[in-house]
Amino acid sequence: MHHWLTLAAAAALMANGAVAQFNMLRFACSQLVVDRIDPLVNPGVRYSPHLHQIVGGNSFNLTMTPVEYDLAKLSTCTSCSFAQDKSNYWTAVMFFKHKNGSYHRVPQIGNGGPQGKLVNNGGLDVYYIPSGKVTAFKPGFRMLAGNAANSDDGQVTKGNICHRCWTSTSEDNFVGGAPCTGSDTVAIPANPQCKMIRQTIIFPACWDGTNLDSPDHKSHVAYSGTGASGGGACPSTHPVKLPQVMYELMWDVSQFDQSMWPASGSPFLYSMNLGGSAAHGDYVFGWEGDSLQKAMDNNCNLNTDCAAAGITAQKPEVYNACTIDQQAPEPVDGWLASMPMGEMAVRA
Ligand SMILES: *[C@@H]1O[C@H](CO)[C@@H](O)[C@H](O)[C@H]1NC(C)=O
Ligand SMILES: *[C@@H]1O[C@H](CO)[C@@H](O)[C@H](O)[C@H]1NC(C)=O
Repeated sequence: MHHWLTLAAAAALMANGAVAQFNMLRFACSQLVVDRIDPLVNPGVRYSPHLHQIVGGNSFNLTMTPVEYDLAKLSTCTSCSFAQDKSNYWTAVMFFKHKNGSYHRVPQIGNGGPQGKLVNNGGLDVYYIPSGKVTAFKPGFRMLAGNAANSDDGQVTKGNICHRCWTSTSEDNFVGGAPCTGSDTVAIPANPQCKMIRQTIIFPACWDGTNLDSPDHKSHVAYSGTGASGGGACPSTHPVKLPQVMYELMWDVSQFDQSMWPASGSPFLYSMNLGGSAAHGDYVFGWEGDSLQKAMDNNCNLNTDCAAAGITAQKPEVYNACTIDQQAPEPVDGWLASMPMGEMAVRA
């Protein structure tokens, strides 16, 4: 909490020209594609079991084998702000279920808050939060946070994966305290007062120092506490402190008037046909060279150029223009008769 308030204060000071006390990368990533593929959990499968929304480097593909598949070299653009960040970041898609049985993808919009406005065309915001000296991810590194099959809110650590209700459509009306604290919930809020729903996914910040991945995509990393503080001291099993990765998504539910809501049950579901309990995020590292390590070592801040690390923030019209076609073509927009999911999976 203290750490986060310090950050908010630092950002405010910066607006007045003073030096921030505590720095982190925080930047916008626009939509690369909305597609039913998942090179981490279902490599090679076209029409994976559920739909994802993906941001980052444009070499995102059905299969991205660790090390051999060099995202940083293969991507010719990124939908994220920093030109040097060819990583891919993805999550499930939120749907609204109309009382008449149709589904509509919930739009994703930009996010304001105390650290200032980010410009997104769909997509999400990414944070890299250092706590002390951190070791950046190695080429080929990937990981998963959350469990796409979990239907029990009680099995989710609310301090790391959560939702927050915003009763205004103005992102400038910042709501609440540090991420995943206070009245934030594991469940997606089903409250007609909510005009926007902010989803936060905080990843583990400790690594075993050896494995770029693991069979469950989780065991090679470990949490060391909760919240967006960069993480605490790492356990001896996972001694290497990583930059803490956090995703922030702003789901705009303002168009789904209460007159459309089903008589019972939540109208908001993720693309696995499950609620907030199944929220998850996927990460495949792809920063060029040692640019992320340098960014952490040199206290690069927010979404601004940082010469010491050689990282440059692109204009929104540049990163917004980085998009790719669906590899698993199907309609994902407008009113749909059903959610795009299920038994279509075929080996590519
Ligand atoms: C994905 O991989 C296929 C097969 O290797 C290739 O033809 C295609 O161009 C790739 N797509 C992208 C977006 O890199
Ligand atoms: C449900 O309502 C939406 C919005 O009015 C409409 O576009 C859609 O066609 C309806 N679906 C069905 C099955 O009637």
